[in-house]
Parts: sequence; C-alpha cells; structure tokens
Amino acid sequence: MAAKRFAACFLRLVLISLLVAYSFSLPLNWRSLNLIKKVNREGPYIGLITVFPPEETAFFQIGAFKPNQKHPFVDLSGRRFLVGKIHDKKVVYVRCGVGMMNAAAATQQMLDLFDILGIVHFGIAGNANNSLSIGDVTIPQQFSHTGIWDWLGIKLNQCLNSSVCLPQKPQLVVGLRGSTANIFVDNAAYRDFLFQTFRVSSVDMESSAVVMTSLSNGFPVIVIRGLSDLAGGQSGHNSIDTFGSLAAINACKVVVQFIKQLHHDTR
Ligand SMILES: *[C@@H]1O[C@H](CO)[C@@H](O)[C@H](O)[C@H]1NC(C)=O
Ligand SMILES: *[C@@H]1O[C@H](CO)[C@@H](O)[C@H](O)[C@H]1NC(C)=O
Repeated sequence: MAAKRFAACFLRLVLISLLVAYSFSLPLNWRSLNLIKKVNREGPYIGLITVFPPEETAFFQIGAFKPNQKHPFVDLSGRRFLVGKIHDKKVVYVRCGVGMMNAAAATQQMLDLFDILGIVHFGIAGNANNSLSIGDVTIPQQFSHTGIWDWLGIKLNQCLNSSVCLPQKPQLVVGLRGSTANIFVDNAAYRDFLFQTFRVSSVDMESSAVVMTSLSNGFPVIVIRGLSDLAGGQSGHNSIDTFGSLAAINACKVVVQFIKQLHHDTR
C-alpha cells in the first residue's frame, strides 16, 4: 500500500516537473501571442529592420513613423517590435542589435510571427569604394531586386549642422556589391583587400544575414545603407562618430521614399 502511494506520488511529481519544464520551453507567452494575432488581423505589414540605437534615433527623428494607437508594440525575447504606419503603409519595425546572429534571429522572428510582405533592412555602413563618399546611400545589387532605379532624385543631407558639411552632395548608388561579417572594419589594408578581391563597395555587420534569412524563407528583401565612414581608409579618426547620424538620416530618407513608392497595397 505504501509502495503504491509512493509510486503515485512519484508519478505526480514527474508530471509536474515535466509540465514546468514544458512551460519554460514555450517560445512565447500567451499574452504576446494573443497580441500578435490581433496585430496580424490588421496586416499585412512591411518589415523594417535596423541595427543599433543611433540608427533608431535617425528613424524616429525623420518623423515618418506613426505608431498604431491600439497596438503600438509587441515585446518578444528582448526585442520590441513597433507596429505603425509610414505614408499610410503598415509597417512592423524592430531594432535587431549588432551582428549577424542578431540580424538573422530578428529576421526569422519577424517572418515567423508577423504577417509580413517583405523586409526593408536599413542603417549605416563603412565605405570600401574610393569612388563613393561618406553620406552616400547604397542599395547593393545582391540584396535588391531591380525595380528601384527610379528614385535617384532624392535630396540627401550634406550637412551635419550649420558648421560641419561634407565636401560633395551625397548620392544614392544602386547596384554595387555589399559585404557583411561579424567584424567592424577600420583598417586600410583590409578594406583595400576586400575591395580588390571581392569588388565590394560597402562593409557592414548584418545585411547578408537579413538577406539570407529573408530569401531562404521566400520573402523579398532590400538593403539600404548610408555610408558613415571609410572603414579604415581615412587619415585620423574613423568618422562614424561624426557622420554616423547624417548617414543614418540619409538611409532613412531613402527608406521612407521606397515605402511611399511601393505599389503593393498595404493600407
Ligand atoms: C556641429 O557638429 C560638430 C561635430 O559633432 C560639433 O563639434 C559642432 O559643435 C557642431 N556645431 C554646431 C553649430 O552645432
Ligand atoms: C565603385 O563605385 C563606383 C561609383 O558608384 C562604381 O561605378 C564602381 O563600379 C564601384 N566599383 C565596384 C568594383 O563595384
């Protein structure tokens, strides 16, 4: 009798600990899941992914994003997904964090959970091509489809403030090669090696992860990066601290125009 009771008790204990283990392993809490369901009922959305706080600051500074009044955000595993509109187009925005692991994880999460049409990835990058300049915005060929050639009229910022300006007017450059690695490139010789060997014009730490994750899930993707520095090709300090904010704003301007021009109806 005692042995039977012990066995039943033991079984119950095992069951309880299994249940506890199971609830800890659930990927999402139910509140988030319910909220996502509600958000998706109003979809589909364009997925916007940027990387780190200075780019986020530029995104808000440009003032095009209007938060959804009912469901302004969903918090998921340490990231805040903002729900709203840009020029009447519905968007879900997230700041993924630096590096390819963050970029791939956030992209996968965005595509798995939200009703997404495609991904616009944007931010700043190092410039590896001597024919390009700081402040220019690049949309690399490998990452983009080509229905994008008609916005080369956008006016980009040349000045940081009334006293600090770039020597030339920034341009939008479409169709070159971009590159990504988990390395912040600030080295003249390595920059030169990358350009000579792979003919890449920009270096960053996320884009190819976002592109690979999007394409392998069957979603279209475009990368829009403003050039903030010469990736080591400069004399003296890396200019990311000075021109990072300008490059981020220029990338955001192109993002907003791109979304405005999109023909797919997401209103
Ligand atoms: C312009 O920006 C530079 C670099 O950040 C700063 O040193 C300078 O004080 C700023 N000038 C004005 C007028 O805001
Ligand atoms: C470097 O940039 C210039 C200006 O956009 C472009 O014409 C050239 O093809 C680029 N070089 C490479 C190797 O992509």
